[in-house]
Amino acid sequence: MIAVNNDEQIFHLQTLNSSYVVQVSDAGHLLNLYYGQRLEHRDNLSILDHSYQVKLGSTTAYSSEDERYCLETRKQEVSTSGKGDYRESSLHLIYTDDGSSTSDFVFDRYELNSNKPCLDGLPQTHSPADGDQSLTIVLREKIKPVELHLHYTCFARQDVICRSMEIINLGSTPVVVDKACSMNLDLSSPAFDALHLTGKWIAEGQLQRHALYKGVFSIGSNRGVSSATHNPFMALAKPGCGEMTGDCYGFSLIYSGNHKITTEVSPYDQTRIMLGISDFDFRWSLAEGERFTCPEAVMTFSHQGLGKMSNNFHRIIKTHLIPQPWQNKARPIQANNWEATYFNFDEGKLMKLARKAKDLGVELFVLDDGWFSNRNDETSGLGNYVEDKKKLPGGLARISRKIRQQGLQFGLWVEPEMVSEDSDLFRQHPEWAVISPKRQPSLGRRQLLLDMSNPEVIDYLYQQLADVFRRAEVSYVKWDHNRNFSDVYSNHLPPGQQSGFYHRYVLGLYRLLFKLKETFGEVLFENCSSGGNRFDLGMTFFMPQTWTSDNTDAYERVAIQQGFSLLYPQCCMSAHVSGHPSHQMLRHTPIESRFNVSCFGLSGYQLDLTKLTTFEEKVIMKQIRFYKQHRTLLQQGDFYRLAIDGGNQQTAWIVVNDDKTEAVAGFFQGLQQANPTLKTLKLPMLNTDGLYQVTSREQFHNIRQFGDLVNEELPVNIKDRGILHGIVANRVLHPSKNETYTLYGDQLQHLGIPLKSQFTGTEMSEQVSHIGDFGTRLFHIRQLQ
Ligand code: GLA
Repeated sequence: MIAVNNDEQIFHLQTLNSSYVVQVSDAGHLLNLYYGQRLEHRDNLSILDHSYQVKLGSTTAYSSEDERYCLETRKQEVSTSGKGDYRESSLHLIYTDDGSSTSDFVFDRYELNSNKPCLDGLPQTHSPADGDQSLTIVLREKIKPVELHLHYTCFARQDVICRSMEIINLGSTPVVVDKACSMNLDLSSPAFDALHLTGKWIAEGQLQRHALYKGVFSIGSNRGVSSATHNPFMALAKPGCGEMTGDCYGFSLIYSGNHKITTEVSPYDQTRIMLGISDFDFRWSLAEGERFTCPEAVMTFSHQGLGKMSNNFHRIIKTHLIPQPWQNKARPIQANNWEATYFNFDEGKLMKLARKAKDLGVELFVLDDGWFSNRNDETSGLGNYVEDKKKLPGGLARISRKIRQQGLQFGLWVEPEMVSEDSDLFRQHPEWAVISPKRQPSLGRRQLLLDMSNPEVIDYLYQQLADVFRRAEVSYVKWDHNRNFSDVYSNHLPPGQQSGFYHRYVLGLYRLLFKLKETFGEVLFENCSSGGNRFDLGMTFFMPQTWTSDNTDAYERVAIQQGFSLLYPQCCMSAHVSGHPSHQMLRHTPIESRFNVSCFGLSGYQLDLTKLTTFEEKVIMKQIRFYKQHRTLLQQGDFYRLAIDGGNQQTAWIVVNDDKTEAVAGFFQGLQQANPTLKTLKLPMLNTDGLYQVTSREQFHNIRQFGDLVNEELPVNIKDRGILHGIVANRVLHPSKNETYTLYGDQLQHLGIPLKSQFTGTEMSEQVSHIGDFGTRLFHIRQLQ
C-alpha cells in the first residue's frame, strides 16, 4: 500500500512489516525520511525529517535562501554532483549543448498505479497482486529539458520494494548518460556490516561479512557478465544481526551484465548504498525524445534477521520473477551426461546411460556439450548447431525420440552467445565476433563472443535455436556462457556507441530470450555460465533454474549453496550428485552426502550411471524415491539456514511447508572432530504447540569404510579388503543409526533435537552415531497433531 500526504508531499510505501517514507523538501529534492520496521501511516510523518538546523562549516549551501540546507547531509533518493553533495553520486549526466555536468533534479509530479510500468526490453518483477501498488515520481532538471521517472513498486506480502529509474531527454541536443544507478538509498546510521557473495570458477557464492567504515566500499563486475566475482547482491546488517534476529536490508539488481554496488559512509554518519549498471566503459547518448531505462533493483528490510531477509527474496523470486509456468511446477530429476562422458560419447553410450537413468527413477535426460559437428574438445565448433553424424548418426531427432520412448524427457545443452575461431560461422561471418579492430583477440576457453548488439546475430541465433529445439523436441535447455568479455568492440555500432557495448550486448541477449520465451514458453531453461558466473535475477526472469557451480563436490557445495541462499531460493539452484572422487577436488565424499546436499536444490545425477556398483544403484534408487516423495517441500518450501552452537565444521538447513506441518532439515559436517562435543539441532519456524515426529532419513554406509572394524558388528569374520569384504560391501546396505524424536514445536525451536554422540573410537552402539568426515543427515519432520 502506498499512502500520499499531499500537504507535506510525503509518500509512505508500506509492506506487511516495513515502511519506506520519502518527502519532497522545500527546495524540491526528493529525500528519504525512513526505511525500516513498519510504521502506521499518520499525518505527522514529517517529524522523521531529522536534519541539521545549523550552518555547518566547510559545507556548500544549496542556495543562499537557506544556508543550513546542504545536500551533503541530506538523505536523497537520487544523488547528483555539482550542488554540494560530495559523496559518490548515483546519476551523472553530461549536457552536450554546453558540456556542463551539474544536475539538479526537483519534484514535478507523481502518479499512482495498480500496475507497474513496463521497463522496455528488460526483465523485471511481474505486477504485484491486487492491493499492491506502484508509484512513479517525476523529477525534472531545473534548467535542462530532462526528466527522471522514479518507479517504486510495493510487494506488501513479500516485504519487498522494487525501484527503477528512466531518464528522458526532452530537449533537442543530446544528453550523455555517464552513470545511472537504478537506486540510491541513504540511511541514517554508519553502523552496518556489508554481506556479499564473492568467488570464482568452482568456488562461487562465498559469503563475506565485514563492517563498513568511513569511505567508499564497492563491489561489481566489469567482465561483461554479472560474474561469480561479485554476485549482484548486498545486505547491510546491523552488527550482531544473525539468522533469526536483528535488522538488515537486502539489495539486488535484475540484470546480467556489468554492475556496481557502492556504499559510502559519510563524515556525517550516514550510509549511502547505490545499485546499478556499472559505469565502467559506459556512456549512452540520448537524442531528442529518447529514454534510458535502468534495470530494476529489489530491496527488502527484515527485523527478524538474515533468515527473513532471504525468505523475502525467495518469495518475490518464486512468485513474481521466475517464468509463470514454472512458479509452482515440480522440476524434473535429471541425468546429465557431462561428467559421465565429457565429449566422448555416441548414441549407443547415451542410450545406455538413459536406460540406466530411467531404471533408477530419473525423469529427464540431458545431452550436454559435444553433440554438434567439429566439437570433440573445447577448441572448435561453437556457432554451428549441426549434429555430429559420427556421434549421432540419426541426428538429434533420433536420439531424442529414442530417449523419449524410454519414458524420459529430453534436454539439450547450447552455448549460443559464442563462436569458435575454428567454425563455419566464424569463417562466414568474422565480423560477428567481438574483436577489437586490428588486434589479435585474447581468448577465454578458446572461444570468442558473438556480437549480441547486432540484430542480425540475434535473428540468426533465433532461427538456429528454434530449429534445433523443434528438431530435438526438447523439454529442457541448458544455456551456457563460458567466457568473460575481452577486446570489446562491435562492427555493427558507430564509434559513438562503442562505450555502450556492454549494455547493448545484454539488451540483445534479453531480446533473444524474450523471443524464445514467447515461442518456447513450456520449455524449462537452465542458466549456466561455467556454473554460477552469471547467476543473477536477470537470467532468473527467463530461466527459473541455474547450474549453481561446476563444483559438485558435496562439501564445497554446502558453502556455495549456503552463500547463494542469501538471495536465491533452492528451486533456482540445480545441484547434482556426481561421481567419486569429485572431478573438481579429487575428494571422496559419501554418496548419501552428495545426495543430501543436492536435496536442497534441484536434484539430479551427473556421473557414469552405467558404472555404478550394486550398492550405489540400490542407494540411488532409494534417494530418488525419497526426493520424489518430498519434492514439493524440498523444491518449494521456505528455506532457512540454521545456526549450530560451536559448529564451525557444521552447517544446517531446513525447508518448511506453508502451514508448518512438515519440514526437512539437513545437517552437514565437514571434518569430524576428535572427541566432539554434544550438538543439538534447533529447528525454528514450526508451530509452537504442534507435536512433531522427527525421523532421520534412512541412509546407508558402504561397509568398506569400516575396514576391519566391521567385524565388531558382524556374526562372521570378514577379512579387510578380502574378496568377501568386497562382495558384502557391494550387496549389503548397512543402515546408519536411525534417530527418531517426538517433540513440540517450541521444544524443537528452543531446545532442539539432541543429536546422538558421534563415534569417538571407543564403542559402537545404538546410541552412537557415525557421521564421519563429510557426513550428513537428513531429518523428516511431521506434525502429529
Ligand atoms: C561449462 C558448464 C558445464 C558443462 C561444460 C560443457 O563448463 O558449466 O556444466 O556444460 O561447460 O562444455
